Amino acid sequence: MSQIKSVALAGASGAFGPYVLRGLLDAKFEVKVLARSKKSGHFEAGIDVVEVDFTSVESLTAALQGIDAVVSTVAGTAIKTQGVLIDAAALAGVKRFIPSEYGSVTTNPKVQTFPLYDNVFMIRNHLQEKADVGQLTWTVLACGAFLEFLLASSSTGLLDFANRKATLLDGGDNRLTSTSLTTAGKAIAEILKNSEATKNRVVKVSEIILTQNQLLQIAQKLKPEDKWHTSTVATSALLKEGLDEFSAGDFSFPVIFKIIAGTGLAGETYGSAYDETDNDLLGVQELTEADLTRVVAEKLG
Ligand SMILES: NC(=O)c1ccc[n+]([C@@H]2O[C@H](COP(=O)([O-])OP(=O)(O)OC[C@H]3O[C@@H](n4cnc5c(N)ncnc54)[C@H](OP(=O)(O)O)[C@@H]3O)[C@@H](O)[C@H]2O)c1
Repeated sequence: MSQIKSVALAGASGAFGPYVLRGLLDAKFEVKVLARSKKSGHFEAGIDVVEVDFTSVESLTAALQGIDAVVSTVAGTAIKTQGVLIDAAALAGVKRFIPSEYGSVTTNPKVQTFPLYDNVFMIRNHLQEKADVGQLTWTVLACGAFLEFLLASSSTGLLDFANRKATLLDGGDNRLTSTSLTTAGKAIAEILKNSEATKNRVVKVSEIILTQNQLLQIAQKLKPEDKWHTSTVATSALLKEGLDEFSAGDFSFPVIFKIIAGTGLAGETYGSAYDETDNDLLGVQELTEADLTRVVAEKLG
């Protein structure tokens, strides 16, 4: 495969997109941002931002002329819409497509009928169909849960640092692969630099495999005077509740989070940790216990 030089990025204004943009720019790719609207002041000066209609093959095909690779970091709620972007990429002669996914359990067939994941599998099949007829190649990046999200000091984080509270999932020993946003962004650039070795496959990176109890122990060691309040919940119960509420038409974030926690944070049940990675290929360094201690210390304040 000839070298990838120009990259179109969809979803650059979101939570993960800016880290991918940084990774691509630092690796000296020519980047074109595809956006639904040009938000003034959102991107640094000099970034090529093109307004597109993500529902129109014509609009997207025109924007993708001369582009070697498309990276999508569109919102989880927009996963399905990537079908049009894939069709346009194939028509424009794009060589590589990286779909918005970025998880761990998303690659596990056991979740493919669950809401949130069914569209991920549909998009992966769509890409494989294009690859089968030689129209483009694809790579899925699995990076586990984003470290910043796992450590967010809120009800969605593994530990609520602000209130010294923890809801331990299945007792707190579930193993979870995790990678920071910055490292995941750099990994995308490395995938494109290693396009032959990453062709038509899931590429896995992991900075650390951690558990809630490990984080709690670090926190208690750093501040032994603090009293943590813990409770425990079964991820199977969260998943059942989430699926019932979702099928009853409640698509709110708390419901979605129950499904994510019931799968992505459920340890071995759905494969939330993996020991075999492509870290060496993509130059990803694993975090040490000392690194994790530094991160927890920052969160404790
Ligand atoms: N592993 C993890 O822990 C983890 C955590 C969170 C997210 N994720 C995954 O990472 C990916 C990105 O998530 P995120 O939280 O960064 O997303 P986000 O911030 O919710 O949204 C990203 C961008 O998607 C674009 N977008 C929204 N709706 C769209 C639509 N209908 N068509 C086209 N573009 C649309 C928007 O960009 P414009 O307005 O500029 O067009 C938005 O800024 C998703 O696949 C998500 O599932 C993984």
